[in-house]
Amino acid sequence: MSAFRIVVLASGSGTNLQAILDELHGRGLVEVVGVGSDKPAAGALERGGRAGVETAVFPAGDYADRAARDEAVGDWIESRQADLVVLAGYMQLLSPGFVARFRNRVVNIHPALLPSFPGLDAIGQAIAAEVETTGVTVHFVDEGIDTGPVIARREVPVPAGVAREELEAAVHAVEHELYPEAIRMIAEGRVRIDPSDPRTVAIDD
Ligand code: GRF
Repeated sequence: MSAFRIVVLASGSGTNLQAILDELHGRGLVEVVGVGSDKPAAGALERGGRAGVETAVFPAGDYADRAARDEAVGDWIESRQADLVVLAGYMQLLSPGFVARFRNRVVNIHPALLPSFPGLDAIGQAIAAEVETTGVTVHFVDEGIDTGPVIARREVPVPAGVAREELEAAVHAVEHELYPEAIRMIAEGRVRIDPSDPRTVAIDD
């Protein structure tokens, strides 16, 4: 069987990309066939390059608007023959055209238990709300912000008075486990969107 091909889009240091490279890449089931970024200095590009993966940069300033840039990103993804687009700290909103072009083929990881704390600084939001538990969510990407169908969630306790850095480290550690696990399930063909209820994801054993 040929490997399940994924492209990872990232704007930052790329620790989630690294977890995917370490856990999945080049072991038969999953192949990372591209790392794309909007930021030329993103650490993720370096990590991809070090792993021998093709990299590409799509800076916002090079395109007339978001739709034009997303068309270029989408053309590149198709040229890599990717089965799945994996957002790993990609700090750009995707245009509706991109979401429609890759419907149910784009996933994201969010550092909270969605639908709680969507958007920016989810960890800060959880601390401010004084919740006892937060977590990590992997979901399909739809037109909204962190609103797509949920594939997997995992809890992270928030001890009273926890330092932000400590909670961040705990959340990231869970991300680095959960994202490779979720991508593996998708690659194995075990993740299905229920056609009668497209908001619901079913996981086969
Ligand atoms: C992660 O916290 C992820 O949940 C969020 O962006 C961050 C990316 O971190 N979407 P990294 O670049 O993978 O280290």
